[in-house]
Amino acid sequence: MNIMVAYYSWQGHTRQVAEMLAEKLDAQLVVIEAVKESSVPVEALKAFFGMKSDIKSCKTDLKEVDHLLLATPVWARHSPAYLNKYISLLSNTSGKSYSVMAEMRSKGADITIEQIQKKMAKKQMKLLITGITLEKEVNSGEFEKTVSKMVEYLKENI
Ligand SMILES: Cc1cc2nc3c(=O)[nH]c(=O)nc-3n(C[C@H](O)[C@H](O)[C@H](O)COP(=O)(O)O)c2cc1C
Repeated sequence: MNIMVAYYSWQGHTRQVAEMLAEKLDAQLVVIEAVKESSVPVEALKAFFGMKSDIKSCKTDLKEVDHLLLATPVWARHSPAYLNKYISLLSNTSGKSYSVMAEMRSKGADITIEQIQKKMAKKQMKLLITGITLEKEVNSGEFEKTVSKMVEYLKENI
């Protein structure tokens, strides 16, 4: 099974989660990079209104991929404009499965995941599992248990 972990991270927390997921799943890791980030309030507004912002070129074709795992920070209870852009660029998605790992400080992951689900449904992709990590768990290293739970499930169900 070919698994791809694609993540966006501004301050490094989601990167740590995504890197551990990719390592444990023996998956390909794709970094979603902003062409240029704006200020925190502007980024929050763009996320809240479901906007898209330009990203650097990266793998968006799922032709050779069986499962896509998206890892994203929660911004203003929504996904960052860069993740939204990445989703819009995905191709060869129909009938494939995906998972979401949302990283946040305290609240909003559920709404964020719901919004991502709506976007992914338009790509005819099926949600397998979701997970949530907290910034403080990433800082303390405790997030490994959340990662391991998702990895175990994916290894049994993909
Ligand atoms: C623009 C912006 C908006 C944010 N909004 C939320 C939020 O609604 N809820 C929350 O729990 N954390 C929020 N956060 C905190 C991030 O989700 C948290 O710091 C996360 O660890 C960042 O991931 P990163 O280090 O991979 O960028 C926000 C951070 C930024 C920069």
